[in-house]
Amino acid sequence: MPTAEPPVQSPLSADLQAILRCLSCGSKLESDQAAGFLCPACKRVYPNAQGIARFVDAQHYTASFGFQWHRYQKTQLDHDELRESERHFLMKTALRPEDLKGKLVLDVGCGMGRFAEVATRWGARVVGIDLSAAAEVAARNLAGRDFVAFQADVFAMPFAPESFDVIYSIGVLHHTPDCEAAVKALDKFLKPGGLLVVWLYSGYNKWYRFSDVWRRYTHKMKPETLHRILKVAVPFFYNLQQGLKRVPLVGRPAAGIVHHLFPVNRQKDPEARMLDTFDWYSPKYQSKHTYEQVFKWYQAMGMEDMRVGEISIAVRGRKPARGN
Ligand SMILES: C[S@@+](CC[C@H](N)C(=O)[O-])C[C@H]1O[C@@H](n2cnc3c(N)ncnc32)[C@H](O)[C@@H]1O
Repeated sequence: MPTAEPPVQSPLSADLQAILRCLSCGSKLESDQAAGFLCPACKRVYPNAQGIARFVDAQHYTASFGFQWHRYQKTQLDHDELRESERHFLMKTALRPEDLKGKLVLDVGCGMGRFAEVATRWGARVVGIDLSAAAEVAARNLAGRDFVAFQADVFAMPFAPESFDVIYSIGVLHHTPDCEAAVKALDKFLKPGGLLVVWLYSGYNKWYRFSDVWRRYTHKMKPETLHRILKVAVPFFYNLQQGLKRVPLVGRPAAGIVHHLFPVNRQKDPEARMLDTFDWYSPKYQSKHTYEQVFKWYQAMGMEDMRVGEISIAVRGRKPARGN
């Protein structure tokens, strides 16, 4: 007799269910074991597929990310004492464990869940949303943690206003059609006194810009096809650069030119190198930003206590507490 697959996520706790809202009419949602979530007012159903509630009808422009995070499910998950994702989380958010412990945190564009893994390790309760099917991978990677994943869009999030103590979004909002609107969409869901942190691609670094020229074509390819091409191209250009660097005098400038024209990620680990290079060439949207821009957006939202992280562009601010 076939055995039923164990559910990927435990049933939602009552307090988390209480913050879920219908995208059509804003009413509180009811959980329905078979259907997923149901709006008692307008009868809209949010289906549950593979244990994940779906608040979108498709991955839309993020199919390459769905492919990427299913193909590289655990590559960037902290599994050794180096704790590379934790190091990045510290540098890209300027958050510390005491900022998250016991807090309700929203991870916007959680991908396969590497930063939610860090946040839960620091004692946060984390809700992760992602427009792509990566939400499934995050739920599996964080099974047993204080974490729930939904497939949802940053521009239409199924939550009550002022639900979260901390909202962070790392490497996500520049991959939307309108980064400014995406950043500003987060404010509504933050509690007064809460922290908002975003990390975006930097507009200051022009070095890797040639990948944007290739990306005009590569983002249109099927993710599987692009991945097959990069499986050959990444080791080729990486090894070419390493080889050129050993040539006296002209080698280093020549390696620089190759890197400029055909940028590939230069991490030592070949799998991480492949993953990050695919991540450069596959997305449809990939805007770059400056501190001047992002500070203006935060100011327009009335954020205070602004800080920057160690890796550009990392901006953290606090929503004024009520009565301020
Ligand atoms: C480069 S990945 C970053 C994932 C994760 N934050 C990390 O750093 O590992 C970008 C993620 O943003 C998600 N994304 C893009 N547009 C989105 C949107 N409108 N709403 C929610 N997630 C979105 C993609 O599906 C993808 O998983």
